Amino acid sequence: MTQPPLNGVVLLTGASSGIGEAMARQLTEARVLVLVARRRERLEVLAAQLPNAELRVCDLTDLQACERLIAGVEADHGAVDVLINNAGMGDIGLFEQLDPDKLVRMLDLNVRALTWLSRRVLPGMVERRRGGILNLSSGFGLTWMPVASAYGASKAYVSSFSEALRTELKGTGVVVTQSCPGPVATEFEDKAGNPTGMQVPGLLLISAEACARQSLGAFRAGRALTIPGFVAWAVISAGRLSPSWLLRLIYWPLGGLLR
Ligand SMILES: NC(=O)c1ccc[n+]([C@@H]2O[C@H](COP(=O)([O-])OP(=O)(O)OC[C@H]3O[C@@H](n4cnc5c(N)ncnc54)[C@H](OP(=O)(O)O)[C@@H]3O)[C@@H](O)[C@H]2O)c1
Repeated sequence: MTQPPLNGVVLLTGASSGIGEAMARQLTEARVLVLVARRRERLEVLAAQLPNAELRVCDLTDLQACERLIAGVEADHGAVDVLINNAGMGDIGLFEQLDPDKLVRMLDLNVRALTWLSRRVLPGMVERRRGGILNLSSGFGLTWMPVASAYGASKAYVSSFSEALRTELKGTGVVVTQSCPGPVATEFEDKAGNPTGMQVPGLLLISAEACARQSLGAFRAGRALTIPGFVAWAVISAGRLSPSWLLRLIYWPLGGLLR
């Protein structure tokens, strides 16, 4: 099984909070850990606590800024050995009521930036026969749910992309892993919104630290997919294995209730 070179140059997006911040604290073996996000102060506080870390402020929805980011890391430290596409955002609610600008920003971040960064660093990894990409998808990437139409679709892209890419890269020394968490206690919901006002059942919710540990564990082992947290794994697996007609039946009343 191919294992990612996590002892090399590791570029981690979305490191200023939540799952990304937790992963940063767990990536102790990285020679250089590059922390990427927009909030400089958060990154400075974190980087000061991690001997192997440095920070780069970047809005990943700007592809020219992405190019400057990668070129700068390459100039200072050499090639990126591992890319962790963790930065992401949600936009939850009835689709026609969502803010169009926020929707597009979400797609730019969850889909466009992740794709662009992967395309940018992969040729070098394949040439060196050494590398790894960890993509943070979501349980929504493996199934679907009303109020998460566009967010879920963006994560379905990440899941499909990750599986296909992993298969393409067989025998190249480059590994691709995806993590598909259920609810994780981070700032995610505050930014994504929660129009139903329903609380996530405590049993389903896991900590950012646990999510990071399980995601990195699967990546280290070279696995294709992980669904962190036992209860979330059971629920998401049930949704994933259910036929579409059954999901339609379950969700149909919910669609009407929300309007
Ligand atoms: N929390 C959950 O329930 C959950 C469940 C399944 C999957 N996920 C996925 O897990 C990943 C991490 O989310 P999280 O829960 O840790 O959320 P979070 O606490 O909101 O963290 C999101 C990170 O992305 C960064 N980010 C947002 N917009 C950016 C931009 N334009 N450019 C650069 N960085 C940007 C944020 O930093 P700045 O704001 O400083 O830029 C932050 O560091 C996401 O891909 C999310 O979709 C989360």
